[in-house]
Amino acid sequence: MPHSIEKVLVIGASGLVGGHLVRQLLTEGRTVHCLARDATRVQELADAGCEVTTGDILDPAAVATALESVQAVYICIHTLSPQAHSSSGQNFMDVETAGIQNVINGCRDVGIRRLMYVTSIGVATDARSAWVCGRAQIEQRLFATGLDVTVIRPGMIIGRGGTGFDAVARGARGRAAIVLGRGTQRFRTIAVDDMAYYLAGVLDDPRSFGHHYDVGSDDVMTIGEMIDVAAERLGRRRPVKVHLPGRLLRSAAPLIERATSMPRGAMTGLVDSLQVDMSGDPKPIRLILSRTPQTYRQAIEHALR
Ligand SMILES: NC(=O)c1ccc[n+]([C@@H]2O[C@H](COP(=O)([O-])OP(=O)(O)OC[C@H]3O[C@@H](n4cnc5c(N)ncnc54)[C@H](OP(=O)(O)O)[C@@H]3O)[C@@H](O)[C@H]2O)c1
Repeated sequence: MPHSIEKVLVIGASGLVGGHLVRQLLTEGRTVHCLARDATRVQELADAGCEVTTGDILDPAAVATALESVQAVYICIHTLSPQAHSSSGQNFMDVETAGIQNVINGCRDVGIRRLMYVTSIGVATDARSAWVCGRAQIEQRLFATGLDVTVIRPGMIIGRGGTGFDAVARGARGRAAIVLGRGTQRFRTIAVDDMAYYLAGVLDDPRSFGHHYDVGSDDVMTIGEMIDVAAERLGRRRPVKVHLPGRLLRSAAPLIERATSMPRGAMTGLVDSLQVDMSGDPKPIRLILSRTPQTYRQAIEHALR
């Protein structure tokens, strides 16, 4: 069956979610374009047929070029990673807000109506974390544009290359596993393939316009529980959990940000987000996309291979 939307732009294709999404869309027979800061990081996708514009979401000209001739846009970025303007002290949420405003402006200029944005379960405008609160504000701003917007919110994405899951896998392979904070935060897990299924699935579906959806399996777990199940799967003993207190991380945040080239505020935003319950409600999206999501155990079978 022909798709009503043939050509899409994925921003964040070098990342875990964006990369899987591009492959899913190509498999469905769509034409896919991506905006990537470093073309070498999307070479495999280019080899698979994805067109590439090199550029930063903060660059309106690059965003405008990437938007040429597409009918829909996915934004799958997070700005905790090093940013071009970090050295000038630009806050990580300012980068995301300004970048997404570039996308909104670019869509309006060329008449693109369909836009999808990936955030996280638990985003809320009254949250303490600048990350969690800032993203809720961006969601609101997007819904207020009048464009056909859908927001997809995962909890913990299970897939090799994901920052969260790689830490789980690393912990499971060692004798001791580092856990940020008290480790009581609960996450709904989702296999990265299911994440790509939901993102691709809403693309042509007008029922999803103007909605945000929590997505995930029926498994809600702490990081420690995820590590222990992964260790069991690997045939290893459960590692000792070494907790890094939130207060310590918060006071060392500026230092950590400088040492790791994280943009300003990113570490504090991350630590403050450890308070957020990320279990959410995955039922509403299942009313329109009915595939049964993989359990955590099924998802790690693939991710740990
Ligand atoms: N992974 C999880 O467990 C998880 C859980 C909940 C929510 N999420 C959400 O899912 C979304 C995707 O996450 P992910 O795990 O796929 O992240 P990821 O693997 O770290 O990828 C992030 C992507 O953002 C791109 N990016 C960052 N800053 C950019 C900029 N200024 N201009 C253009 N691109 C930029 C990165 O490009 P470069 O390659 O150039 O750095 C990369 O492609 C994010 O919204 C994240 O918060 C993820």
